[in-house]
Amino acid sequence: MTEVRAPRGTRDILGEEAFFWQYLEDVVRQNARLFGYEEIRTPVFEHTELFARGVGEGTDIVEKEMYTFTDKGGRSLTLRPEGTAPVVRAYLEHGFFAREPRVKWYYIGPMFRYERPQAGRMRQFHQFGFEALGFGEPSCDAEIVALSWAIYRDLGLRDLSLEINSIGCPLCKPQYIQKLQVYLSDHRERLCENCRRRLAENPLRVLDCKTGQCQDVFRESSFPSIQEFLCPECRRHEERLFRLLENLEIPFTVNPRLVRGLDYYTRTVFEVKVKSLGAQDAIGGGGRYDGLARVLGGPDVPGVGFAAGMERIILLLEKSGVSPRDTFRVYLAPQDEAGEERLLAFSRVLLLYGIPFHLDFASRGLKYHLKRAQKMGMRFVVIVGEEERERDAFSLKDMDSGEQVLLSSADLVERLRKERGTC
Ligand code: HAM
Repeated sequence: MTEVRAPRGTRDILGEEAFFWQYLEDVVRQNARLFGYEEIRTPVFEHTELFARGVGEGTDIVEKEMYTFTDKGGRSLTLRPEGTAPVVRAYLEHGFFAREPRVKWYYIGPMFRYERPQAGRMRQFHQFGFEALGFGEPSCDAEIVALSWAIYRDLGLRDLSLEINSIGCPLCKPQYIQKLQVYLSDHRERLCENCRRRLAENPLRVLDCKTGQCQDVFRESSFPSIQEFLCPECRRHEERLFRLLENLEIPFTVNPRLVRGLDYYTRTVFEVKVKSLGAQDAIGGGGRYDGLARVLGGPDVPGVGFAAGMERIILLLEKSGVSPRDTFRVYLAPQDEAGEERLLAFSRVLLLYGIPFHLDFASRGLKYHLKRAQKMGMRFVVIVGEEERERDAFSLKDMDSGEQVLLSSADLVERLRKERGTC
């Protein structure tokens, strides 16, 4: 080992940042509970074929970004780059289709993509995601959008934009793809090299390209819009979704060029962006994937879901200036071993009342404890030395005012509860 360093594109989560993660996870779980989504935990690696077939051979993810390896038994395995294909695999494997075809699930966990790391783009990153399987109704698309919106709102995130599109179904999508292929071929010389190659294999993927020269082509007024190709069923689906979102007062814009980077989508696709993040501005995305279960070898099972990038949300939370730590904590400072015993016993009373504490130990002097309590932002320090023990009491020091008082156990609890506002 040459360096004591985490691999490029990965990082440790610790200190103040870990509190942001706990807070984010709490908000996700709380909303999952309210909306009736149950947790599913799938393995971190799967058979490579699951993603090759599910996400699509022509996508950036499958072509360039997967962490694929052969295990000692000769199997090709891949660290999951996303959570939807594994969730559908689990649904099929456990036979939900036959006994409980409509399920609502959520997950939180690490994903892996070999991308060029930068702020908000990691090789190991985390997503929370929601998937509703067995639901073909546009109202479920609306619920998924509403759920993502509720989480962003609870987190206090502002200046979000929601872009929606429909990419049609097997009936109407091929006609658009044909038109797109003709149009892009006519403008072949203006496309980047990668897109020229993709044009023949998977023209829809060309729309994912972020290079300036390709974006210029997409912006032309003559550029074909999928909205004009939707079949009556897809149009009805989209119109109902839009009406439901308007009823829910969720603002959105229709972006006819939004296709998303995964092949499994049908009809609804959407993305949530935030300006202040710069280049990596997508904090979540999702859509409907009615054909995915069949592609994976199962029956026709409609599905809709979304996933959000947690690192990007954490960056926003950190910028917002709120502190995720418990603001009220009590530092327990024993002066000797007997003091330790009393404070250990007293910490059980604090537990009972839900008052957070930090117990240090007796091998250090009072000066050390007070300095440390100050550094940790503790408002109160409870001290037990010889004098306190003799008088069967505790000293309570208010770090803000410097005042120190001697209190009985009952009075001390009373005072701390009052200060914390839990009386
Ligand atoms: P996705 O758009 O590929 O969709 O990823 C969802 C979110 O994950 C992105 O909007 C972004 O916030 C975050 N993300 C993606 N790659 C990275 C990265 N390298 N570093 C940090 N964050 C990243 C999916 O994964 C679909 N499975 C979503 C879905 C669920 N569709 C239906 N159900």
